[in-house]
Amino acid sequence: MATANQDISSAASLSDETDIKTDFLAEFDLTPESDRWPLVRQWMKQTPLPFYTELRAKRPVLVTPECTLVTRFDDVTEILKQSTVFTVDLYKPKMGNYLMTEDDTHMHNTEKEIMLSLLTREDLPRIRNFVAEAGNNILEDAAGKIELINQYGRMIPALMVQNIFGLDGIKPEKLIEWSYWNQYDAFRNQHFHEAADSETVHNKTKQANRMLGIYVAYLLLGKWWHMFRGKPKKDTVTRMLQEYYPKKAKFNILRQGINAGGLLVGAVETTSEAVAHIFSQLIERPEMLAKAIELSQQDETEAFDKVCWEALRFRPIAPYIFRKATIDYTLGRGTEQATTIAQGSSVLNVIASAMFDPAAFEAPEQFNPERAYGQSFHFGFGSHECMGKTIGMVMIPEMVRQVLRRPGLKAVSPMEYLGKPFPEQYCFSWDR
Ligand code: HEM
Repeated sequence: MATANQDISSAASLSDETDIKTDFLAEFDLTPESDRWPLVRQWMKQTPLPFYTELRAKRPVLVTPECTLVTRFDDVTEILKQSTVFTVDLYKPKMGNYLMTEDDTHMHNTEKEIMLSLLTREDLPRIRNFVAEAGNNILEDAAGKIELINQYGRMIPALMVQNIFGLDGIKPEKLIEWSYWNQYDAFRNQHFHEAADSETVHNKTKQANRMLGIYVAYLLLGKWWHMFRGKPKKDTVTRMLQEYYPKKAKFNILRQGINAGGLLVGAVETTSEAVAHIFSQLIERPEMLAKAIELSQQDETEAFDKVCWEALRFRPIAPYIFRKATIDYTLGRGTEQATTIAQGSSVLNVIASAMFDPAAFEAPEQFNPERAYGQSFHFGFGSHECMGKTIGMVMIPEMVRQVLRRPGLKAVSPMEYLGKPFPEQYCFSWDR
């Protein structure tokens, strides 16, 4: 880990996992049922890679009283491919009737296709340029010292949401706040999480969504006004209002408003966390950091981007993607390790393990800066794969790149969560 005033170009220690423990399952089996999930959660935080290695080899599907962990690549994809067997029901009480709460339904499939068509790939070069410019401006103004999470990691996606998606006319801080509570409630406030005060988080989200709803209503009125005057804005929300949809799509104005809000919720906290995690992994590996700094100077970004995705493989934004089992389902059928997941179980598809499965990733323990994004799960997999994937794939590395281009960059504090579920503080300085 980086320590105070550590020069990131000479940071030490490769990993926290020096004292490698190898007998997790023996301890698990001796632990009383009620203590098993907290113990597993602790290993997932403190010694994830050795723990997952043992699970993949000896018990790839680990049943705990609270949830079931699935750790092999093939099993994770088998689950994520079957969206009506392993559903997103756990999102339902959190996200109202947004498309993400449904599986193979008309609403999910139609709205996702419409939104994907509006988030056209032709915009990607413009988005990358926007991010580069916004990043450069923030770093110039910061004059040699920045708290990366709030001033940069959350701010740039919020600015992108305003300028590219068109959620404008409001302070970015408000957008950041609304995105934060939604992400917290849906992805870090489930029964298997360590939420400080689950009810408060849920209420904060409901409050945030009331404000977001009012804001979006005014936003759409404003966009219409510009269209009516023959001066439509050039953003995704305006594009959404300008299109004609088949009646059967049922993509009415209410659905359009909900999807405008969805553009915000998906973008901010995910990006901030990915950027912070990439830095934390590069800092632990001085050689890779030096390589990334070198590549950041080049105009060609493909090689640089690969280093970022490889760093994120070592610490993805979340270690798992969760689903609810709708039937009893056996994984590893016909093998000695066949395990049945009981109907109603919460299933944690541990992508942080699957991306280290030698069955799918060559020499997974090695940090290979040339590894292709390939079968990585950073943006999910299957029918719920991230709608903003192509945007995230240009925004995240460009944000990292702009910071690494600063001469004499130093991490002046480690990445801190401050007791929250997302990174909250990470300070850097550089030569002016
Ligand atoms: C750029 C703006 C973004 C938008 C508008 C967005 C939106 C979405 C939406 C709507 C879904 C659900 C798709 C569905 O249910 O069919 C989704 C899924 C997902 N997104 Fe994004 N997202 C964005 C950025 C990101 C970023 C930066 C990351 C991570 C680095 C990310 C990670 C994911 C993952 C892992 C899923 C899958 C969740 C699951 O399978 O349960 N997203 N995103």
